[in-house]
Amino acid sequence: MNSGIIGGELFPRNIGVILVQQRILDALNHQRSTTPPVWFMRQAGRSLPEYKKAREGIAMLDSCLMPELAAEITLQPVRRHDVDAAIFFSDIMVPLRLAAVGVDIQPGVGPVLDSPVRTARDIAALPAPTFDDASMIAEAISLIRAELTPEKTLLGFAGAPFTLAAYMVEGRPSKDHLRARALMHSDPDTWDKLLTWCATVSNLFLHVQIDAGAQAVQLFDSWAGSLSRETYARHVLPYSTQALENVTVPRIHFGTNTAHFLDLMAEGVEAVGVDHRLPLDEAARIVPDTVLQGNIDPALLFAGADTLHAHALDIVRRGLAAPAHIVNLGHGVPPTTDPGVLTELVAYLHSLDTDKLIG
Ligand code: CP3
Repeated sequence: MNSGIIGGELFPRNIGVILVQQRILDALNHQRSTTPPVWFMRQAGRSLPEYKKAREGIAMLDSCLMPELAAEITLQPVRRHDVDAAIFFSDIMVPLRLAAVGVDIQPGVGPVLDSPVRTARDIAALPAPTFDDASMIAEAISLIRAELTPEKTLLGFAGAPFTLAAYMVEGRPSKDHLRARALMHSDPDTWDKLLTWCATVSNLFLHVQIDAGAQAVQLFDSWAGSLSRETYARHVLPYSTQALENVTVPRIHFGTNTAHFLDLMAEGVEAVGVDHRLPLDEAARIVPDTVLQGNIDPALLFAGADTLHAHALDIVRRGLAAPAHIVNLGHGVPPTTDPGVLTELVAYLHSLDTDKLIG
């Protein structure tokens, strides 16, 4: 090895590889770090004043297609909170826009489609599930990777086909997804075509992000918990598998209210998200070989520091039952969250040493 003497000390010169600990990627590889890794779903967004300022006068989906702006918003929570991962600022509806489907995200409402997709004829009228130009996504990811320090992980993501379809069939947000849940039973053939279309655009969206430098990905199936185990297995899971096809980076599969089919969600992925309803040691009994992510109750962000710390500590302890654990909320950061609470929560988690919690 090349070496030189400085001040009488021997030091290595041409270090070919500098090993930097990446807590999130390590956890996804079943390597538990003694410091709990943490990031938050929806960490970029309305809880941050710098986000509101950056977004002023720019529509949500438009902002996702502006590389410098998307990169800046992605990095804001990493700078402010020192979380261990950046999640790409975008939306599960962006692939629809890239495929030329008429969709908007209305402030305070959520995703709204120009024309809901409910019949075989509606599906036939959908544009082909391809992107004319996704270069702005790749450019944003490259800008983020260039800025992100090497110990932070860049996460890409996509919506799972069921959650995407729930918006497409209803045409707007709905509580119970009744139309979508009826369609899969009343017209399985149309359902198959719609879910295949959704899986194709989500898969493309993931590959654009991975090719540009996303180091792990999360598939968001936020509304899957409204389904029975049997319905999930038959009408949903095969398409989520398709959305993750040929993904070569670690995969996190997220849903809420999914205790009754967590083992199915864990098939073929490295990690599953767990919401606040299911204690992590119980989740570890259901999926003993899978890394767990979660599951701080977002409501506890409003309960005061002592209560929040006790809750977070209990979660870290229970997470020791899994091969590795990434701390997160059970669902996204509520828009009214005080950002200072998140910054302080990260500092608290990073002050813990899990070796000292065992026993
Ligand atoms: O996590 C992150 O910080 C990364 C960016 C991200 C956004 N949406 C930004 C966003 C991610 C990963 C998503 C995923 C997403 N989008 C999901 C899955 C996760 C979940 O929360 O269940 C879903 C279901 C959507 C669809 C969607 N987009 C909804 C329901 C809404 C909220 C509508 C509202 O106003 O209440 C959005 C809008 C959205 N996506 C915002 C952000 C920052 C808010 C837009 C704004 O600032 O006006």
